[in-house]
Amino acid sequence: MGIVYTASAPGKVILFGEHAVVYGRPALAAPVIHLRARAEIEETGAPDVLLRAPDVGRSAYLSRTHADNPLAAVVRVVEGRCGRSLSAGYSLSVTSAIPIASGLGSGAAISIAVIRALLQYLGLADSVSREAVSEMAYEVERLHHGTPSGIDNTVIAYERPVYFVRRDPEPQIETFHPARPLRLIIGDTGVRSATKDVVGDVRRRWEREREGFEVIFDACGRLAEAGRTALLAGDIESVGELMNENHAWLQQMTVSSAPLDNLVAAARAAGALGAKLSGAGRGGNMIALVTDETEEAVSAGLLAVGAMRVFKSDVG
Ligand code: MEV
Repeated sequence: MGIVYTASAPGKVILFGEHAVVYGRPALAAPVIHLRARAEIEETGAPDVLLRAPDVGRSAYLSRTHADNPLAAVVRVVEGRCGRSLSAGYSLSVTSAIPIASGLGSGAAISIAVIRALLQYLGLADSVSREAVSEMAYEVERLHHGTPSGIDNTVIAYERPVYFVRRDPEPQIETFHPARPLRLIIGDTGVRSATKDVVGDVRRRWEREREGFEVIFDACGRLAEAGRTALLAGDIESVGELMNENHAWLQQMTVSSAPLDNLVAAARAAGALGAKLSGAGRGGNMIALVTDETEEAVSAGLLAVGAMRVFKSDVG
């Protein structure tokens, strides 16, 4: 067996401001540390690179992949950035506990786990910053998603809660610590929804009804600012109320869905301080803000109305 290099990256939730962040409004996101994608590289000395994703039963040789192969895209971006050939001599295997197409950042997490493993393989792990890792993952995201804001790759590369504003040429990124840790219950509708499609649809609607959508985006941006203030003050009750307001604006944006609204209502009825969809919407996951006292009731309430699964995640 050749030398093995392993790396991982977490999932993420958007606390405030999804979609509006694509249009330059601030947003807050946090990593989901215990839900991770993993990449393993083994030196083989072979004349090609075997790419494997055993979770989805796929494997391919790098030399025979198409431009849209997500793992090959990561390899090519790292090659380009580092100026070193990565076209032979190892195998790359990827696994992930993060549900795909569900708003939890599985694509960006896989990219970042692979980037980190490749950097180790190249002996560059200590000399490449988190910022540079995030930029490489953003390059890959742009190949798959058209107009990503960059918040997913940022929060996943930094593994900290972030306040993020898309800007040219550089986004504004501030990591922060809530004054009181947040406990979230993440509820999965089980409905898969491609971020690219939802972001594209919001863009078409924005093009048709610019004024209305600008009002919605402004409101979401203000909620992200207020959310940051409440988080820094440890005012958990206000954070919950602001999450509820954000969900209402996301409904107006047309990115909620009956299964998401159902889980959000169930979480609130079971005692959550607030609940909203998280990520692109139209499926995927929602988040509920809970306390030690309400955590179990909220998890049970979500499962009782049909959540496919629930995850616990602490922010702070
Ligand atoms: C996806 O996690 C968040 C969106 O705002 C898309 C993006 O920011 O690129 C829906």
